[in-house]
Amino acid sequence: MSVLAGVIGDPIGHSRSPRLHGHWLARYGIDGHYVPLRVPAADLDETLRLLPRLGFAGINVTIPHKEAVFDRADEVTDRARAVGAANTLVFRDGRIHADNTDGIGFLANLRQGAPNWQSDRPAMVLGAGGAARGIVDALLTAGVPGVTLANRTTARADALADVFGDRTQVVPWTEVSDALAGQGLLVNTTSLGMTGQPPLTLDLHALPEEAVVTDIVYTPLATPLLRAAAARDNPVVDGLGMLLHQAVPGFAAWFGTTPEVDDDLRRAVLA
Ligand code: ATR
Repeated sequence: MSVLAGVIGDPIGHSRSPRLHGHWLARYGIDGHYVPLRVPAADLDETLRLLPRLGFAGINVTIPHKEAVFDRADEVTDRARAVGAANTLVFRDGRIHADNTDGIGFLANLRQGAPNWQSDRPAMVLGAGGAARGIVDALLTAGVPGVTLANRTTARADALADVFGDRTQVVPWTEVSDALAGQGLLVNTTSLGMTGQPPLTLDLHALPEEAVVTDIVYTPLATPLLRAAAARDNPVVDGLGMLLHQAVPGFAAWFGTTPEVDDDLRRAVLA
């Protein structure tokens, strides 16, 4: 019987996940389907009860359900707990297993795109939303000695630093440029630079020339931040790879094959 999986959210039409998983299903010749499902919040509980009975092995979860499914899961991974939200569910033995793969997707993308990145250097993370949380958790777990946080609304950065404690510190949004001195990594998790949003304009002069610069924004692929960093020869990693890599653990759990993230996949998702 075909294995079923999908993605739930509301809205769901913009999701690139069906194309991503569809590419892997075809490539590995797997008898399976991955479908987008628009699920309004009022239908979430019923959906979570019904999908396993309909033969679904699991689902991805996107806005606005990431926190709600975390609350409803029977088992959660440490990294999902660190974020308080889940993006990947596995239905097994009548139970819902919840994971959050954004952080490891971020790291896998960083390691693939910047093989010389050193996890023993400090990092600067801009933004303090859900994405920042997963990334800070992943960086600290990977051994990064210190993470400096900055957010337009400083109170949100303070709240994030409180969650992670000692190895994090906060600088005011207006002082980001000076605080780039000594960093080994600069990450943008804000929506600045996305098509239709203002650019992220930072003075990068203090950033060491070997520091890696990455953005979770992938529309456009070359954000103003990444272009400015590339112009001064910093290694840059675009945000599409994070989307691709975060999908690997779900696909592996549902369909039984660990898929590869390569240029063919990038092309398929961008097409
Ligand atoms: P997510 O949970 O996906 O990270 P989010 O919570 O909406 O999304 O976070 C968006 C991030 O972009 C926030 O850090 C936000 O800053 P605030 O916490 O101050 O809102 C940041 N952001 C959005 N627009 C911005 C702008 N014009 N200037 C600076 N930061 C901005």
